[in-house]
Amino acid sequence: MKNPKMEQYRYFLKDTIRKHIDFSKTDQNRGIDPPPVEKPFADDAVIIELPKPNAFENIPGINLSDAIKNRKSRRAYLNKPITLDELSFLLWATQGIRHKIDRGHAYRTVPSAGCRHALETYLCVLNIEGLHAGVYRYLPLKHLLLFEFTEDRLKEKIVEAAFSQPYPGKAAVTFVWTAVPYRMEWRYDLAAHKVIAIDAGHVCQNLYLACEAISAGTCAIGAYDQEAIDRLLRIDGIDEFTVYLAPVGKVKKDKEGLN
Ligand SMILES: Cc1cc2nc3c(=O)[nH]c(=O)nc-3n(C[C@H](O)[C@H](O)[C@H](O)COP(=O)(O)O)c2cc1C
Repeated sequence: MKNPKMEQYRYFLKDTIRKHIDFSKTDQNRGIDPPPVEKPFADDAVIIELPKPNAFENIPGINLSDAIKNRKSRRAYLNKPITLDELSFLLWATQGIRHKIDRGHAYRTVPSAGCRHALETYLCVLNIEGLHAGVYRYLPLKHLLLFEFTEDRLKEKIVEAAFSQPYPGKAAVTFVWTAVPYRMEWRYDLAAHKVIAIDAGHVCQNLYLACEAISAGTCAIGAYDQEAIDRLLRIDGIDEFTVYLAPVGKVKKDKEGLN
């Protein structure tokens, strides 16, 4: 390898870093309390109830192998709303909590290195039944939605933030996953960042599969304007920043479930 820069970036994908970390000095091993599993919010925040995960009566059960077989990146969405039931299902499938262990640990519907779950889920809502357009955040601990703010030209801004890829502008909602890296660094120090990226993949794959159950589709977006999307979410871009996006909308399916 003659390109040192390339070597440096490839290094990120390796686990060699682990051999150079003194794990006795991580914040976890120095006895520092774990950060909370969910980003805190103000007492007077506007909270929206979501249909509870044990009450997804309106979500049809589908065969898992069909969901895996039919899954694909879908970029053409119908101009139809997604219901709150359906949104609740998608949030549960991607980041829902199975079992809370203590203040700093909770098992979710997706795996995460060291059970650290360093991701937060924001929603740019354009067309969800019963919700005003705006930016929301999922609160997995109680399976609630937090209303963050309304935004002028939200549709245009989310498209701009996706480097003018048009799909988020046609979607009913765009999932935006941010990383709160300290949650992972607390345990893994410099070995935290690769596993945060791997974790995000599990989350998005569950979104793809869950969409198959509700005649919706999604498309992972990894090419986006970092500063623009962080600005749109009003996060600092340092201790929390965007890592992945996925617009979701209803799709037309032919008789084999494909479109
Ligand atoms: C990490 C990642 C980033 C991606 N980024 C984009 C993107 O920015 N824009 C886009 O249109 N598709 C994006 N995709 C979707 C891929 O293009 C798609 O998965 C690939 O072409 C294979 O098609 P399939 O998902 O239908 O099997 C991304 C997929 C992944 C996994």
